[in-house]
Amino acid sequence: MEEKNIKKGLELAISDDDPNASTRKNDHIQMAFKSQIESGLLDKRFYYEPLLSKHPSISDIPATNFVGKTMKAPLWVSSMTGGTELAKNINTNLAKICKEFGLGMGLGSCRKILSDHTYFDDFNMRPILGEEVPFFANLGIAQIEYLIKEKKVYQIKEMLDRLSADGLFVHVNPFQELLQPEGDVLSLSPLTSINSLIEQLDCKIIVKEVGQGMGPESLKALMRLPIEAIEFAAAGGTNFSKLELYRGDVEKQIIFEGLTKIGHTAEEMVFFTNKLIAELGDAIQCKEFIISGGVKNFLDGFYLINKLNANAIFGQASGFLKYAIEGYDNLKAYTEAQLKGLAIAGAYLKVK
Ligand SMILES: Cc1cc2nc3c(=O)[nH]c(=O)nc-3n(C[C@H](O)[C@H](O)[C@H](O)COP(=O)(O)O)c2cc1C
Repeated sequence: MEEKNIKKGLELAISDDDPNASTRKNDHIQMAFKSQIESGLLDKRFYYEPLLSKHPSISDIPATNFVGKTMKAPLWVSSMTGGTELAKNINTNLAKICKEFGLGMGLGSCRKILSDHTYFDDFNMRPILGEEVPFFANLGIAQIEYLIKEKKVYQIKEMLDRLSADGLFVHVNPFQELLQPEGDVLSLSPLTSINSLIEQLDCKIIVKEVGQGMGPESLKALMRLPIEAIEFAAAGGTNFSKLELYRGDVEKQIIFEGLTKIGHTAEEMVFFTNKLIAELGDAIQCKEFIISGGVKNFLDGFYLINKLNANAIFGQASGFLKYAIEGYDNLKAYTEAQLKGLAIAGAYLKVK
């Protein structure tokens, strides 16, 4: 099929018989004045190298090894929620995309299916995903603290087995819990709970925030732990503190609004992480990263994974959600476009 297209393209390129030529030339004249780009608007993050590659296709994206599995592209579908009819549909669409394009997937909080099986089908995506791509379950730090206190960590293992998940995301969200009208109170520091979890649960663990990222001290503490990866879930995109604040009363909104503006962007976190890699040397145990949170498109993703001095992929949540709600065809078109963009970036751009 591709061969046929290439042949057709070649024939057009070398023949004078181009039926669109005169309309195109007219378009060029009409649109030239509307198509000026001020030099100040140029994207300064990249060198553009037009001489070095043919036009790439998605299959030219190099495979990425991540958390012990192979992905066809360095793109991750970040954790989103389950437990409603809408969420089942969304998760199914997301899982189909991951299967089709060889991407990894994180589930939203699986609290609902820890001991109750009513909503299991909403989260049971392994049959759709197949065995090849990474698939991780998800629990919040408050739930982890509770399960450790109640000596019920075994429930997590049982859930991971039921889901055939490769491991567990632990989301660390103290601000979200504080601002959520029905939020949980953390009696221990997240770091204390994560350390206990590592001792008690034999599985791959990825730790993430939920949209405000984390500073260098938290990153440093995590990078020294025997966990599989860190997902930035940085600030600059979906902000759960803001979302929870909207759900609460107006007085609380006025008092705590400032907390929604706290956080670190993915770019800032790449900078922190690179500094820590240089500083910690052999003391680093966690060596893989999902750069996410406000990563708007393939250019941001390509830039950030190339800037980080470690094995990294990039993730999106709300970017996928928008299209997953609309239906599989739109989600597929969006994903295909992002991957095509990634292939183009790989062919013609070098990160400065
Ligand atoms: C609808 C929705 C539900 C989410 N639910 C969870 C969740 O259950 N667990 C979690 O760790 N993160 C959750 N997140 C946070 C995302 O995984 C991600 O960290 C955050 O949205 C920032 O990425 P973005 O800017 O690409 O949206 C959710 C995000 C969205 C948009």
